Amino acid sequence: MRLKGKVAIVTGAAHGMGEAEARLFAAEGARVVVADVLADAAEAVAADIRAGGGDAISARIDVTSEAEWQALIERTLSAYGRLDILVNNAGISGSSVGDPDGLDGWQRVIAVNQTSVFLGTKLAAAQMARTGGGSIVNISSIMGFVGGAGGHPAYHASKGAVRIYSKAAAVRYGPQGVRVNTVHPGYLPPMLNATNAGERDDKIALTPLRRLGKPIEVAYGVLFLASDEASFVTGAELVIDGGFIAQ
Ligand SMILES: NC(=O)c1ccc[n+]([C@@H]2O[C@H](COP(=O)([O-])OP(=O)(O)OC[C@H]3O[C@@H](n4cnc5c(N)ncnc54)[C@H](O)[C@@H]3O)[C@@H](O)[C@H]2O)c1
Repeated sequence: MRLKGKVAIVTGAAHGMGEAEARLFAAEGARVVVADVLADAAEAVAADIRAGGGDAISARIDVTSEAEWQALIERTLSAYGRLDILVNNAGISGSSVGDPDGLDGWQRVIAVNQTSVFLGTKLAAAQMARTGGGSIVNISSIMGFVGGAGGHPAYHASKGAVRIYSKAAAVRYGPQGVRVNTVHPGYLPPMLNATNAGERDDKIALTPLRRLGKPIEVAYGVLFLASDEASFVTGAELVIDGGFIAQ
């Protein structure tokens, strides 16, 4: 019960790592808002958490919209009365937008992966400040440290921006008791499943632990940063990548 009494929003929680985080948070006693652009899939996760004895609601949000962020926070407050934790997890891969040199694809990746984090962080921090503080965990990537792993340039740019923006936010909101940290996953399904099998094998070969990560292995790191166990941790980076970035 490491999050007992806390209220958490997890974005992109209909699938993948966000789903693992929402389920783990609920198992640790949090009341969870399962937020995603895919409303039905988000509700399925929330309903399953409730069926297992946890406390969760779902909410549809397109994280690129400031108005929808405001509505999400209002929905959270009307359901649960407070907000203690935000995980900015929603994201898209570079390959999902195609042409690495196209302006439309660049702007889409920056909007979903980067601008969303700015919107969610500033609005959640303002709310958390009213109740004495909270914890924001922004999901970057190992691609936020390096630019040469064959990825889409906009993806690297967006994840690098999440990394340094989060430090600026940690400094800005620290005096109000709001902590802001980043988590940097390595290669994991399901996002990696979008790529071909040969590429998947190459990523495994490049990872010192010689396997892909599991969503729950990232979720445990996010749980630590979200919890009071990390009460003096802010502006920090937690890499969960099987050793990839150590090379
Ligand atoms: N899988 C990896 O290898 C990997 C590695 C490093 C970082 N990451 C990051 O981790 C996060 C989760 O990745 P995943 O692999 O679990 O991906 P995923 O595709 O399984 O889940 C992403 C979720 O975000 C949601 N989403 C997408 N656009 C949205 C929008 N505009 N508004 C609201 N929700 C939206 C999707 O519907 C989906 O449920 C992402 O930020 C990703 O960039 C993934």
